[in-house]
Amino acid sequence: MVNEIFTKTHTSLRDASIRIIKANQADSGAYIASPNFNVYNFSWFRDGAFIADAMSATGEHNSALDFHIWATKIIIEREEKIASLIRRGKQGEKITNDEHLHCRFTVNGEESKEEWTNLQLDGFGTWIWSLDEFLIRGYSLPLATYRAVETLIGYLGTFWQIDTYDWWEESYGHQHIANLGSLAAGLERCSRWKNISDESKTFAADTAKQIMYLIRHRGLSNGRLAKWIDGDGLDASLIALVAPFGLLANDYSIARETVDAVATSLGFLGTYRHSDDWYFGGGKWPLLSCFLGLAYISLDERDRAEEILRWMDTVSNNQLELPEQLEEPLLQPEKRAQWIEQWGEPAIPLLWSHAMYLSLYSALRKD
Ligand code: BGC
Repeated sequence: MVNEIFTKTHTSLRDASIRIIKANQADSGAYIASPNFNVYNFSWFRDGAFIADAMSATGEHNSALDFHIWATKIIIEREEKIASLIRRGKQGEKITNDEHLHCRFTVNGEESKEEWTNLQLDGFGTWIWSLDEFLIRGYSLPLATYRAVETLIGYLGTFWQIDTYDWWEESYGHQHIANLGSLAAGLERCSRWKNISDESKTFAADTAKQIMYLIRHRGLSNGRLAKWIDGDGLDASLIALVAPFGLLANDYSIARETVDAVATSLGFLGTYRHSDDWYFGGGKWPLLSCFLGLAYISLDERDRAEEILRWMDTVSNNQLELPEQLEEPLLQPEKRAQWIEQWGEPAIPLLWSHAMYLSLYSALRKD
């Protein structure tokens, strides 16, 4: 039965989101983060994995599969490089940040030569998680994808403890809980696949367990998740561990406290990334409110999730494009001009925003 919250506006924003995502998927399968913002003319594993998942949740399986094939190719083409990194890592050799796999690639699958905070790793875990969601929906993956995942199991299992940049490509020098959660989600999911060798399955499962142990023992503050290991900061990316990753299904109180802290301190209808954000002045990110919406569904608070879905209609522009962030209220308005001068107006449409809208829409639609 069609729920009454699925008004005409929702349907058009849903259709527009699918159209915008498809229009910005390259022939190679890569999703461009944003077409109207030069710096985002790349495909990130993190954004792409969430976009592919949203597309498959909404019935656009071919689009998701094309992305998965593009991502598979990137890993397969770097098998030797990854094997050498693993070997060097095990021998305790120093590996510089940019020698690691990059977080974003050109649509043709190459590293960008521009200087960037490339070391993030979470996108590879999120990608594996999104592959599992794709399989759960009944679709199949090429054999090469399983091979790529085996390679990633070895890589992520060797390097999950290193310091990286966070989801926001900032704060180097910590083990970020959102990044660790992304790795645990992917590794735990693929440890159950039958097309993976027993050795890899065990390694993936053990690594996921170690990550969750570390998070439970050194990743909490005031009963909620902290931004990084041994820290006490708050960051909206933490919501991903509650949903869609579902890593706290047996830790109701941690999930509850994390969701409440983010909604109260960083916002519910419009959510800041963290309280020190100054990127383009630090606006509220609609996509993060959608993550909160998914978390509310998992906490049986559907009303709040519906409220977020309705609110999302108010943040698209006349062409039904969703922005990366809202123009106001800003946390540090005095910092906005310098970003605009450097990089131009902030990204709109942002494919990841459309994806999270679609994910929330599909989750609410699934009664
Ligand atoms: C965000 C990243 C995102 C990238 C592309 C950055 O500003 O911090 O999380 O992957 O934009 O959308």
